[in-house]
Order: sequence, then C-alpha cells, then structure tokens
Amino acid sequence: MLNWLKSIWNSLWRVGWPRDERASVKAMLSSLLLHLHPPKIRPESLKFRATWAAGLVSLVLALQLTVTGIYLMFYYIPHPDAAWRSMKDLAFVVPLGTLTRNAHRWAAHAMVAIVTVHMLRVYMASGYKGSRQANWVAGVALWFLTLALSFTGYLLPWDQLAYWAVTVGSNMAAAVPLVGDHFRQLILGDRSVGESALLRFYVLHCVALPAILFLIVGFHLFRVRKDGGLVVSEHAPGGGRGDEGHKLVPAWPHLVYRELIVTLVVTATLLALALWLQAPLEAEADPSRTPNPAKAPWYFLGVQELAHYSAFWGGVFVPAATLLGLALLPYLDTHAEGVGRYLPKERRIAQALFAALLLFMAVTTVVGTLFRGPAWALMWWPK
Ligand code: HEM
Repeated sequence: MLNWLKSIWNSLWRVGWPRDERASVKAMLSSLLLHLHPPKIRPESLKFRATWAAGLVSLVLALQLTVTGIYLMFYYIPHPDAAWRSMKDLAFVVPLGTLTRNAHRWAAHAMVAIVTVHMLRVYMASGYKGSRQANWVAGVALWFLTLALSFTGYLLPWDQLAYWAVTVGSNMAAAVPLVGDHFRQLILGDRSVGESALLRFYVLHCVALPAILFLIVGFHLFRVRKDGGLVVSEHAPGGGRGDEGHKLVPAWPHLVYRELIVTLVVTATLLALALWLQAPLEAEADPSRTPNPAKAPWYFLGVQELAHYSAFWGGVFVPAATLLGLALLPYLDTHAEGVGRYLPKERRIAQALFAALLLFMAVTTVVGTLFRGPAWALMWWPK
C-alpha cells in the first residue's frame, strides 16, 4: 500500500524532495506552478519590506474567493423570487453555509483594500517604470476588475442593502454624457435594477469577470518573472547592473516556504473573521421602499460623495480621469532616479501628488460613509 501511494506521489512529483541547491533549482523548473517563480532570487526580495506581501495576499484572496464562490453557486438561484431565500437557506439549511458566505464576503472586502495597498507599494517603489510599464497597466486592469467583481457580487443577496447600493451605483453610471442611459441599460438590461440586472450581474460575477481576472493575473505573474523579479534600487547589491556577481538564493525553500506561511496566515485570519463576524443580510429587496440615505458600497462612497456635488464631474469625470491617469502613468513619468526606493528625495513631488490623491479618496470615503445622513445631509457626529 505504502509503495503504491509512493508511486502515485512520484508520478506527480518526479524530482524527489529537493535536498540541495541543484535539486531545488531542478524542482522549480520542472513544476508548472513553481515554474512561475524564477529558480533563484535576490535575498532582498525575500524581505517583508520588498513587497509588504500585498501581491501574494491578493492572489491568495482571489483563490479563496473562487473556492468559496463555487460552493455558494451550488445553492444560489439568480432570480428575484429566490435569491434572498437562497441566502436564508445558506444560513439555516446548507452545511457550512454561513461560514462560507461570511468568508466570501470578508475576503471580497479585504481584496479591494489589499489590491489598493499593493498598487500603493508598487507606486512608491516606482515599480511601473522601464520594462514594467505594461505590467503596471495590467495591474490597473486588475484593480478595476477587483472593484467590478465586488460591485457585481454586492447585488446577489438581493436584500435592501444590495438593491439600493447597486441602484445608486448604476445611477452614477447613467450620468455619463450622451451614452449614460444606454450604458445603464446595457448593465441593468432595463431602466432599473430588476430580474435582468440580477441575471447579468450573476453571469458577470461568477463567469466573465473571474475568467478575465485570472487570465490577466497569469500574464501579470509571468511578466514579474520576465522583468527580472521585483524592481531593485540602483544602490542595492547587484541593483541596476543585472544579477552578475551578486549572490542569489534558491527560490525553494526560501521563497516557497514564505509563500506557504503567508497563505496559512491569511487562511487562518479569514477563518477567524468568518467565525466571528456575520455578513449582513437586511430585509428582502423592495423597490417601493427607498432607504434614506441610499448608499453605494463603501469603496464607491467617495465617488458618491463627489457625485452629490456634480453627477457628471464628481461621479464620472473624476473617477474616469483617475483611472486613465493611472494607466498612462508609466508613459508620463519615465525618470529613472529613485527607482526601487520607497521615499527617495528625487521623487518628492511625485509622491506628494500621489499621497494627496489617496488622502482625497480617503477623506471623501470617510465623509460618505460616516458623516452623511438622511437626504445626504452632513452630520457632525458619525451615526
Ligand atoms: C488581483 C490583483 C493582483 C495580484 C494577484 C497581483 C500579484 C502580484 C504579485 C504576486 C507580484 C510580485 C510580488 C509583489 O510585488 O507583491 C506583483 C508585482 C507587481 N504588481 Fe501586482 N497584483 C495585482 C494587482 C496589481 C495592481 C492593482 C497593480 C498596479 C496598478 C499591480 C502592479 C504590479 C507591478 C508593476 C508589479 C512588479 C513590481 C516590482 O517589480 O516591484 N498589481 N503583483
């Protein structure tokens, strides 16, 4: 029996357990998943400060969302007459239904936050310059897709929170001049959120957007490898002069073990959160009962706050210009000074501008979340 199990293991893992540097390089090169890593890497890339672990945590969360999402799909029915009841079934009938739903919900919120932190980290280190230009643009697409996935998933529970958050969000889209109404019609399949919108959001959320996201993630990771790993400062050992003469360490076990630890920590944290914090479920969606105020999901509340002043300038122009500006950034800012360092004095203006943008986004989001009451009136104390 033991020999039989051993022969199955050997058929999957052909190179044996790597016990020296040569064997570990062979192991990295002969496995599809490990092959995504370079066989050897710079020791500085292993330090927490090199990545803040944010890219890896984004990837782990994307995989956890896929696993929990598939389980939820087994029970979810994308129709207004049945969707909310499916949520109740998850809570009372389906084995591990509440735990899976909670984990899916908190992982989705965490992913929006951590992908943004990853983008900030890469920006701070100028990781969008030189050969990494295209990979940054792929990253901007991933950021947009993460938001779109979260937004389309928001509607699925079909409760008051979901219904009105998506109504507010799609009304913002309708403020696009000339094509706004057509655009809203395209995403909702109607003039308001209803049966067609639920089906469209379901297909986008469960099929189209994850497929596109994982395709781009594949490209993204491939590019990280082809671009020579993480960006390094010209002052770092071997930095700016390629890898020649600089000591590299094998990715197995140094990088792979660290990745396993991060994966375990993220999984344990998510499990603890899912056990401790209940995902909200309000009363079933009722198009005739508008909550006051009706709020978009938290990551769009900054945009909703701006849209309050001007539907077009705040709700459409500023977000579209921000997205376009981010995508064009590597082609506008091409100075090589300070690359690979977080706070180089050569980049003070660029970093101050980016910090101002982030601060603006944070302040508008906090105001929209905590300090807006009925009729979107400003409250001086959070509710
Ligand atoms: C689903 C979302 C994402 C995943 C799974 C992901 C994954 C990763 C991983 C694992 C790395 C290598 C380790 C690290 O730097 O942390 C990386 C690097 C990189 N990412 Fe992402 N990423 C995502 C989104 C983004 C976004 C939103 C941006 C920017 C707009 C971005 C731009 C980059 C760039 C330019 C690098 C190379 C950085 C360097 O050379 O230092 N990524 N990504």
